[in-house]
Amino acid sequence: MKVQIASDHAGFELKEAIKKEFSNEFEWEDHGTHSSDSVDYPDFAHPLAEAIAQDPAARGILICGTGNGVAMTANKHAHVRAALCWNAEIAALARQHNNANVLVLPARFIDTDTAFALVRTFFSTDFEGGRHERRVQKINIQ
Ligand code: RB5
Repeated sequence: MKVQIASDHAGFELKEAIKKEFSNEFEWEDHGTHSSDSVDYPDFAHPLAEAIAQDPAARGILICGTGNGVAMTANKHAHVRAALCWNAEIAALARQHNNANVLVLPARFIDTDTAFALVRTFFSTDFEGGRHERRVQKINIQ
């Protein structure tokens, strides 16, 4: 499975750790950043979101310090449902109820093992559909 991934400088180390940890499971499309030098998170979240918006089957991971900057940016794109997650239950519900297609991680507020657990949960949990399908269909405004 190919997974889109991007971060700013605050998420760079975690992005690299995730890529290494899941190198056998996923093929990565890395939209940067490529060092810990200070950057602006929209410059990396927008390209990832464009890739997600173009392909209904695409999945991604976005990382910044709090997760909020990249989530706000990505969710400006129609058909992107980027979910800020900090524990496994929220990551599971983001898939089951919201059909989230981007996992957003707050690098400065979770440890690496927690991040790995969230990735495992997010990518192994299916959307439940049913009443949640109707609600997800109502998210987009265009
Ligand atoms: C960078 O210092 C920080 O502002 C950024 O990673 C993110 O937390 C913004 O939402």
